[in-house]
Amino acid sequence: MSMKELVLVLDFDVKYRELAARMVRDLGVYAEIWPGDVSIDRIRALNPIGIIAAGEPTVDLFGLSIPVMRISCTHTAKDELHNFLFNACGAKGEYKLEDYIDRQVELIRQTVGTQKVLLALSGGVDSSVCAALLSKAIPGQLTCVFVDHGLMRLGEGDSIEAIFSKHDLDFIRVNAADRFLGKLKGVTDPEQKRKIIGEEFIRIFEEEAKKLGRIPFLAQGTIYPDIVESGGVHGETIKSHHNVGGLPDNLDFDQLVEPLSGLFKNEVRKIGIMLGLPPALVNRQPFPGPGLAVRVMGEVTFAKLEILRRADAIVREELDNLDPRPSQYFAVLTDTFSVGVKDGQRTYDPVLAIRAVNTQDFMTVTYTPVPHDVLGKMADRISGEVDGVSRVVYDISSKPPGTVEWQ
Ligand code: XMP
Repeated sequence: MSMKELVLVLDFDVKYRELAARMVRDLGVYAEIWPGDVSIDRIRALNPIGIIAAGEPTVDLFGLSIPVMRISCTHTAKDELHNFLFNACGAKGEYKLEDYIDRQVELIRQTVGTQKVLLALSGGVDSSVCAALLSKAIPGQLTCVFVDHGLMRLGEGDSIEAIFSKHDLDFIRVNAADRFLGKLKGVTDPEQKRKIIGEEFIRIFEEEAKKLGRIPFLAQGTIYPDIVESGGVHGETIKSHHNVGGLPDNLDFDQLVEPLSGLFKNEVRKIGIMLGLPPALVNRQPFPGPGLAVRVMGEVTFAKLEILRRADAIVREELDNLDPRPSQYFAVLTDTFSVGVKDGQRTYDPVLAIRAVNTQDFMTVTYTPVPHDVLGKMADRISGEVDGVSRVVYDISSKPPGTVEWQ
């Protein structure tokens, strides 16, 4: 996107490039990430007001007569960056997300004309904000297909339907829970579960797309880090990054529409609020594509999913109010059985685990030190309100070595 005031973030270290670009944008100056080996001629042509070397540069950037700042630790002071941008580079700080919306609305209208656009809506933040932006730009021309695999959390499918039924778009909900459960019958291996769910999702999406007739444009909620992380920064080789449910290459579309591809996640959330999406949706925690199938250990059955959904809803209710709120929290239904006692009767039911983690980037996480009274309340409520759980344990693993999800 061409901007009057551009700061180039040169990528010499993956650890700092996104952090640096996000910090610059948060101060109201537009920043783009470019590879560290971009040519000097290219840099001149881009005409940036300043350069940030993210990591340790090996080339001499100081001969360019463009102000350069180095960011090579995660604790760069905001006032140092502010001083660099507004004093050394003379930035005006005119980058605003409202302008991004306006520019994209214009661009979408130019690209799409009067034709139709199809979007695979997962209910996650990116595809939801993408749907809201498209429905603002081309009301009446957008069809959203939401494949409900029956592996969502309590009430989630209905709330997604309720939100998008209010927008000016065609919303198709495919209730495919039975179909997914049928395919998952007897399957216990986590990777196998993921593979089956991914494939079934594609098959259903293709069937729905076929029913709708030919639609020339496929919209995806791809965001800037998806592009940067797949090595495709600005005209360099872009590896395929199938953002929404892993759609295949051979789908019959003429063109992709990816209106969020210039934005970081925090910016996508802000735009979602500006477009009128509910904060609960926009601030949704990450949720794995295979859904609760990777939070039910062993074979996935409807009965197990129901137990997990009800326990998970209690965990979320209790931890939603924790201050500060953990980055991600949920319940896991294990396949370990233990003896318990309920209403004077001996029981033999699965152990339920609670997971709550703090993190910046989900690459490394620490477990959240949830206060004992809150842990006790969750355990009491789950034992009292959910049949089929013998006892409740709290997962205190950090990542590494423990991943966020159990499967
Ligand atoms: P792990 O378990 O790898 O998870 O530590 C890191 C973050 O990614 C989420 N996650 C997924 N997201 N599809 C997704 O879209 C997946 O298959 C998937 N698996 C894990 C996880 O919830 C956490 O936020």
